[in-house]
Amino acid sequence: MVIMAEVSSSPTFQPVLERIAAEIENTPGRGRPADYIPALAARDPRRFGMAVAEPDGTVYGVGDWRQPFSAQSITKVFTLALVLAGQGDPLWEHVGREPSGNAFNSLVQLEYENGIPRNPFINAGALVVTDRLQAQTGDAVGALLGFLRAESGNTHLAINKDIAASESAHGDRNAALGHFMAAYGNIVNPVPVLLDQYFHQCSIEASCADLALATGFLARHGIRADGTRLLTRSQAKQINAIMLTCGTYDAAGEFAYRVGLPGKSGVGGGIIAVVPGRCTLCVWSPGLDERGNSVAGVAALERFTTLTGLSVF
Ligand code: DON
Repeated sequence: MVIMAEVSSSPTFQPVLERIAAEIENTPGRGRPADYIPALAARDPRRFGMAVAEPDGTVYGVGDWRQPFSAQSITKVFTLALVLAGQGDPLWEHVGREPSGNAFNSLVQLEYENGIPRNPFINAGALVVTDRLQAQTGDAVGALLGFLRAESGNTHLAINKDIAASESAHGDRNAALGHFMAAYGNIVNPVPVLLDQYFHQCSIEASCADLALATGFLARHGIRADGTRLLTRSQAKQINAIMLTCGTYDAAGEFAYRVGLPGKSGVGGGIIAVVPGRCTLCVWSPGLDERGNSVAGVAALERFTTLTGLSVF
């Protein structure tokens, strides 16, 4: 029973989504689309969509909630889940679980921490996870796409090849991270193979509806959309915890303070969030703050938890 909510827990999330969209519409200052990947720079920062999915697959949405956008780092949640499901705790010998306090593409920590990235959501850590998924499946991106299609029910989910090419052409920082970790023996595949997988992974396009549904296993404590178990209840809890502490990089403290949910952002302007046992969310608006998180996206999630009282705190 939600006591402090401004809008009581309703049988449908539709009214609260519409209220948030109206408030966001009147909010000035939407940030700027990512431009370090040139193919992302042309996105209109005034676009806004938001979806909420319930554990049974019921989904509500507002605005551009069916518009596919570049999922980018949001995909790092799903690769992590697939590797934990396939390999379990040995992954943690190769990547840590602490917030980095640094930018998502930072190189500086890697040298004094001997090629072991701080967590699976900064780029270095995500490269380690994708490397492990490639070793596990022989086709990391194929496994990821298959999972996202199955969980969202959208068989048309696909990679945007132009964005993948743009990432590759401007991927020197990620290449540096990959080669540096390989020098420490923390990468098992040839670095060019890993980078190709990683750039294609980030370039998957999906809508708010797709990603809210695909995140559902984290609200269902590890259970997939078809009722089978992907993760143990503990593993689902652990991923939610890492999202809370590391999912928005050097802004994770601020995100926890304002939103109060496990969340994961991407530089395409999307953010997913989880209310364990209750629902999953995805919001999209391409304008970013200086730490790479969607300005309107964070604001909308903050309003959602304030209006509904649904938070992990
Ligand atoms: O590797 C990169 O830099 C991008 N493909 C993904 C970064 C990202 O989404 C960070 N999120 N806020």
